[in-house]
Amino acid sequence: MAVGGTADWRGVPVPIGRSPRGQSAATGIEVGRIRAGEVSALRDLRLASLRTDPLAFGRTYEREAALRDADWIALTADVAAGGGAGFIALVDAAPQGLCMALALRDAGDGASGLFAMSVAPVARGRRAGEALVAAAVAAARLAGAPALRLLVTQPTAARLYARCGFVDDGRRERLEHPPGVVEVGMPLDLAGS
Ligand SMILES: CC(C)(COP(=O)(O)OP(=O)(O)OC[C@H]1O[C@@H](n2cnc3c(N)ncnc32)[C@H](O)[C@@H]1OP(=O)(O)O)[C@@H](O)C(=O)NCCC(=O)NCCS
Repeated sequence: MAVGGTADWRGVPVPIGRSPRGQSAATGIEVGRIRAGEVSALRDLRLASLRTDPLAFGRTYEREAALRDADWIALTADVAAGGGAGFIALVDAAPQGLCMALALRDAGDGASGLFAMSVAPVARGRRAGEALVAAAVAAARLAGAPALRLLVTQPTAARLYARCGFVDDGRRERLEHPPGVVEVGMPLDLAGS
């Protein structure tokens, strides 16, 4: 999955209501909407995830590291103003996880996409990922999306999504980098639920 700078995003911001920071059932995990002033947290988490797990994302570290500060600031402001749905997971009060739910420009049916999902290695295995998925699903539902779509390459992430109700729809795409890595489509159907 991939996101880019403000002018470079695959999706457009999802309008959702202001939701308070929520405590997850998992101890020490708190997921909150990205707010103004959290530019560096967003950028640091995203760039760290691209460095740590390059095969998990459609964009490269080099590409996003080259984005200007203004791109990150504008992106964070969009999200903080309620015009998007970006979430940071605090694990023991430190920012360790990230995900985005964005309306898909080319979907044609109002579906949302889940992008940039990551939890730092030091915080993995504590269900922060599940809490982030739950926040993205809630955002997509509030936006009236009939589905929340994603592409996944990593088996660990695919198991997480399957636990959360996402199902392999047979869609297959190849990452542009490096050649050979296959992305698997795993949407979550939200229509009628
Ligand atoms: C996928 C990811 C977000 C899951 O986050 P998480 O908070 O660790 O999720 P969970 O706590 O639910 O644990 C997921 C699995 O990792 C296992 N795990 C436990 N401790 C772990 C550790 N220290 N390091 C790695 N995985 C660990 C868990 O047992 C669990 O396995 P299971 O699904 O077989 O039960 C995280 O692994 C990640 O950022 N991966 C790299 C980026 C990526 O693939 N993103 C998805 C893009 S589509």
